Amino acid sequence: MSAIVFIGGGRITSALVAGLHRAEYPEEIVVHDRNPKKLRALERDFGVAVEPDLQAAIATADMLIIAVRPPAVAEMLDARLRTV
Ligand SMILES: NC(=O)c1ccc[n+]([C@@H]2O[C@H](COP(=O)([O-])OP(=O)(O)OC[C@H]3O[C@@H](n4cnc5c(N)ncnc54)[C@H](OP(=O)(O)O)[C@@H]3O)[C@@H](O)[C@H]2O)c1
Repeated sequence: MSAIVFIGGGRITSALVAGLHRAEYPEEIVVHDRNPKKLRALERDFGVAVEPDLQAAIATADMLIIAVRPPAVAEMLDARLRTV
């Protein structure tokens, strides 16, 4: 499977996903976030697929969009590199 994957399901992801939804973007969109409530809202409002597991989300990515705040990027890379 290939998809656009958003890492972070906050404000900018919500705005971008809303635009893609409105434009009837035809490919799969996957969102990963550590907050299940945010994932459920994005799933409900925009029909995206949600993936609570970081590794699984990355594995589906044809295009990966990092949408967390700058300090969280290093944290996420650490988590990712610990598993390779
Ligand atoms: N908002 C804008 O208009 C805008 C415009 C252009 C660019 N940007 C850039 O886009 C990036 C994201 O901004 P944003 O406004 O969307 O931030 P945000 O609303 O805080 O969203 C980031 C999301 O990522 C989650 N997150 C953080 N660390 C995580 C981790 N290790 N694992 C899983 N999820 C994690 C956050 O969860 P928590 O809430 O639990 O921390 C939050 O839900 C920033 O670099 C910002 O500069 C934003």
